[in-house]
Amino acid sequence: MTIMDDIESRPAPQNDEKTIIYRHRIATRITHWIWAITLFFLLLSGLQIFNAHPQLYIGNQSGFEFENSVLSMRAMQAADGTVGGYTTVLGHSFDTTGVFGMSGPAGNPSYRGFPAWATLPSYQDLATGRVIHFFFAWLFSAAFLVWFASSLISGHLTRDILPSVADIRSLPRSIVDHLRFRFHHDGRYNGLQKLAYAGVLLVIFPLIIATGLTMSPGMNAAWPWLLDIFGGRQTARTIHFLCMAALVAFFVIHILMVIAAGPLNEMRSIITGWYRADKKNEEHSA
Ligand code: HEM
Repeated sequence: MTIMDDIESRPAPQNDEKTIIYRHRIATRITHWIWAITLFFLLLSGLQIFNAHPQLYIGNQSGFEFENSVLSMRAMQAADGTVGGYTTVLGHSFDTTGVFGMSGPAGNPSYRGFPAWATLPSYQDLATGRVIHFFFAWLFSAAFLVWFASSLISGHLTRDILPSVADIRSLPRSIVDHLRFRFHHDGRYNGLQKLAYAGVLLVIFPLIIATGLTMSPGMNAAWPWLLDIFGGRQTARTIHFLCMAALVAFFVIHILMVIAAGPLNEMRSIITGWYRADKKNEEHSA
């Protein structure tokens, strides 16, 4: 939808002409900012909860005596007698002193999974971490349901998020364009962007909610089949953690792409809905 022509009075060459389009609906914008805020609190409080037992397993068993651990962060004594923080992933240990396993001032270190700056509260407090986590988890899940229903009704889901066959075919070109920091300002999501958003919205968000529910004893009583689907509470916890790591990776790339694509125009569109697009492509705008 185009409502306004470019305000520049000097006539520009046809291909460089710009126009302002309405790009993001109100539901997309509000839910986007709700999950940006809720995910911040969920991440920090989630790492607080993880720190209560900084070890992940596959299956139903958990504890130092079992062999099913896939990740652990703890303080250990090295062969030379010095104590440090070690992270063990699938049997391979790495010295992560200062960040994972052992952190804080050299004279008064803390023996904890994630460091104080990465958890909420910063000090060890599982009960408060859980209260914060569950409050924002419900808010996040409600925002996701609103986004899903409104996107289904408005056609945003099928038109802008689900990649079409043409989007999949254009992926190699889209990857080369991204590597060259060449962005098309036509108001539509490109193939790579659709794939990333579909991955986050339709795979990671539902998975992180479902595995969260699987870890809840109340849900185990109501929907015991959740435990069967995810292969036990410990596997659900590991998948939940992997989803968190994928979201952190997405977030870093997402912000870099927003900056590379033109932060002012991008931010204006996700806050107000209005986007400055290439005029020649205006008929494609969402
Ligand atoms: C963890 C937090 C975040 C997640 C999971 C996330 C995810 C998403 C998703 C899925 C979309 C597409 C929404 C749709 O079309 O329905 C989107 C769009 C967008 N996000 Fe985020 N976002 C996050 C944080 C942020 C932050 C902090 C910023 C700003 C600095 C930002 C800026 C944008 C912009 C500008 C767009 C529109 C991109 C475009 O129109 O090309 N996002 N985000």
